[in-house]
Amino acid sequence: MVAGSGAVRVAVLGCGVVGTEVVRLLTQQGADLAARAGAPLELVGIAVRDVAAPRDQVVDRALLTSDAESLVDGADVVVEVMGGIEPARGLILRALRGGASVVTANKELLGKDGPTLYAAADEAGVDLYFEAAVAGAIPIVRPVRESLAGDRVTRVLGIVNGTTNYVLDQMTSGGLELGEALAQAQELGFAEADPTADVEGHDAAAKAAILASLAFHTRVSVAQVHREGIMAVTADDIARATATGHVVKLLALAERSGDGVVVRVHPALVPQEHPLASVRGSFNAVFVQAEAAGELMFYGRGAGGVPTASAVLGDVVTVARHKVNGGKGPIESRYAQLPARPVSDAVTRYQVVLRVEDRPGVLAQVWQAVAERGVSIETISQSRAEDDGEYADLQMVTHAATDAALSSTVSDMSELSVVVDVLSVLRVEGV
Ligand code: NDP
Ligand code: HSE
Repeated sequence: MVAGSGAVRVAVLGCGVVGTEVVRLLTQQGADLAARAGAPLELVGIAVRDVAAPRDQVVDRALLTSDAESLVDGADVVVEVMGGIEPARGLILRALRGGASVVTANKELLGKDGPTLYAAADEAGVDLYFEAAVAGAIPIVRPVRESLAGDRVTRVLGIVNGTTNYVLDQMTSGGLELGEALAQAQELGFAEADPTADVEGHDAAAKAAILASLAFHTRVSVAQVHREGIMAVTADDIARATATGHVVKLLALAERSGDGVVVRVHPALVPQEHPLASVRGSFNAVFVQAEAAGELMFYGRGAGGVPTASAVLGDVVTVARHKVNGGKGPIESRYAQLPARPVSDAVTRYQVVLRVEDRPGVLAQVWQAVAERGVSIETISQSRAEDDGEYADLQMVTHAATDAALSSTVSDMSELSVVVDVLSVLRVEGV
């Protein structure tokens, strides 16, 4: 399949934040990459929307084209870093069916329609690699898919979105408003083209679906991931977290539950002494628990053009090596066919803050509502509500219980006549 010249023809689809850095590495590290792949990697073209737009000087303008289909047809390896569903999906399928191997960073597409792509790669006997699609530069796809193939993974817990981690970190340490911090993340190139994909948790949910599928040898689609973003996290939540020795993080969790798996993405309080609490800025970290290996932690830059290009190029070298020497990487492993369970089955803890009437007997009513659901409270504290002497704020953390029991408890408490408002409900993880 390698071109007559002996070179591996590489086509790059997209020349934005990531694509530009992929082109830079391909151009500037050609000799090393050729030695590692076993043949020169020849950049044969770069597909973009607007060929006339200004580009970094590392981009040879003669390679730019708006005809992505023709470019794909003449390549041995196609690197898809344009993002979105279409035309990325159609171009990847065209490449795979035409015998090219594909490297993609597109978690949105993999989370939504991965099985179609995996099947096309399998049928054509070519590679589909996607290390950059989860947690940027961090090698996590290959360790979970290959290094842990002999073990039984029980839980994956991590911070997999750089933008929201950056935003929450800036709100915590810099006192920034959410919008202000998000604008910075966009400028720095971490955020998706539509940043609601980050702040509403869609990006993390897609990554969680990919990780859960790999870790549990099953198929989890993004639609099966319980998702809550960070838009409801307030400055008061952040201040309370700090006061109680926690930080707020957007977490992705995938765990075995009965005969199935529960996959969820939501903001959570993490104790300050937990390693995830010290993951700052756009960095990501993923904990994997496996029966034999125990606890593993993967940490590094989760977003940004240069770090992501590292993961992309790692895949390019691997699939090019397969083109040169024959063979291909592992195919999707989904034999376990575990059902996706709802978030109500997850076992977690809640921190609840209630505004209540400040009079005798209130605490007993709240306590009873909690006990009736079989939930127990680990800590509770009361403070005078800032804005009114008639009310008090009750802050409680529960012991572990199912999400179903905990959310019913909150609902019951909100119905009590002594409860004026439910100020905050956050899960607590990493205890
Ligand atoms: P950008 O928006 O910066 O770049 C997208 C590129 O794709 C642009 O060059 C654009 O062309 C081109 N493009 C878009 N649509 C088309 C089209 N229809 N035809 C031809 N070219 C097209 O995105 P990023 O580089 O940030 O992200 C790319 C992918 O990498 C996404 O899947 C993203 O989720 C993923 N990713 C991004 C990370 C990051 O930190 N940014 C990290 C990990 C993964 P033009 O320049 O002409 O507009
Ligand atoms: N928008 C994504 C993030 C890019 O912030 O993590 C990396 O996948």
